[in-house]
Amino acid sequence: MSRSGLRVLVVGSGAREHALAWKCLQSPLVVRVYVAPGNGGTGRIARNLPVPADDPAQLVRVARKEHVGLVVLGPEAAVAAGVGDALRDAGIPVFGPGRDAGRIESSKAFAKELMARGGIPTAEWAAFSEPEPARRFARKFRGQVAVKADGLAMGKGVVVCGSEEEAEAAIDAMLVRHAFGRAGATVVVEERLEGDELSVFGVTDGRRVLLLEAARDFKRARDGDQGPNTGGMGAYSPPAGVDPELLAEATDCVLVPAVRELARRGLDYRGVLYAGLMLTPHGLRVLEFNARFGDPECQVILPRLRSDLVPLMLAAAEGDLSARPMVEWGSEAAVGVVVASGGYPDGYQTGFVIEGLGAVPRGVLVFHAGTRFAPGRGLVTSGGRVLTVVGLGPDVEHARLAALSGAVRVRFDSAYFRKDIALEAVRG
Ligand code: AMP
Ligand code: GLY
Repeated sequence: MSRSGLRVLVVGSGAREHALAWKCLQSPLVVRVYVAPGNGGTGRIARNLPVPADDPAQLVRVARKEHVGLVVLGPEAAVAAGVGDALRDAGIPVFGPGRDAGRIESSKAFAKELMARGGIPTAEWAAFSEPEPARRFARKFRGQVAVKADGLAMGKGVVVCGSEEEAEAAIDAMLVRHAFGRAGATVVVEERLEGDELSVFGVTDGRRVLLLEAARDFKRARDGDQGPNTGGMGAYSPPAGVDPELLAEATDCVLVPAVRELARRGLDYRGVLYAGLMLTPHGLRVLEFNARFGDPECQVILPRLRSDLVPLMLAAAEGDLSARPMVEWGSEAAVGVVVASGGYPDGYQTGFVIEGLGAVPRGVLVFHAGTRFAPGRGLVTSGGRVLTVVGLGPDVEHARLAALSGAVRVRFDSAYFRKDIALEAVRG
């Protein structure tokens, strides 16, 4: 295949996909980037295609029509819908796993079994479809457990419990009242772990793993890790307290054995494998795997990548990373602050005009998520997480101030953001 004049299709509509499109556009190999369905920000730098991220047949059709040579899957919904399978069947290289390999994210029970077989360190666990045995298991840990819906539940399917009452309530919500429908028909109950969290990412061709830089994300809605869990209110990279030995351990004891286990089951995983880790006093433990880049982690990792992302994604998509495409990182730190709609992650209003983007200081990056262009009104809000504002700097402290200096400039009705993203790294 020709290595220049490449047309890339990024599937998804978040700030992660805006960052992916932005990075692909810097590649000398790329002539055009499409985003399906995209948002108000991707529409400014690339061409949005009005196709849902979870519609394999339509995505194959537009990829063929536009002569796309590489498709990048952003969200888990695309993976779980079998978009990767459909495109690969059509002969189009895809950076992102097929549905079966993607079960490492879409089924927590599958992921847990894979970890057990691969000797990957994780919390003690069991899977249940009946409430009473699940309650008994939770009592064994005096209610200090995490109760997890097996399937995809938009980041809301995990309840971290501090008492037997809380554990029973979570088990009953999922297994008795079916609060998550089919996604919660099976639950994983696991021991509750304590420690700092860390997101690690490996690019894989199904055999080899190339580690990317790590990040830490902030999932709670409010400062001081208060408030409900969200899709992620911010992230930074490189994370404090993470040394090369730890990253080597994450590669050798988590990512490599996970890919090996997938391959042993005949699953050809091509794309990014993301492990959410907890750094406990007894060593690292895997909380979850994701079959894609993290959001907002992607928005702070890609601006730190100096080398071209496209050859790396192409090599993985084509199943051969043996030539080890160059991966070179800048020395700068990156901090990303998510500006969200008031009320998110619960109910919120949309359609508010977004102002102040022109006043964001030079060098501060703004990746759009819930934005759209409304004729006659300009850019308006269209989702819970609206923008990720990313600051770069010689260290985390400067990057953080840059990100905040951008976030305060962006204005729309009810906008809010966390002011303590990455503060832990500054305070030490
Ligand atoms: P998951 O989707 O499995 O990563 O869970 C979402 C969040 O719940 C994680 O980022 C953790 O903050 C928390 N969590 C998950 N599992 C555990 C656990 N075993 N112990 C403590 N917290 C957990
Ligand atoms: N930042 C968490 C996620 O992407 O799942």
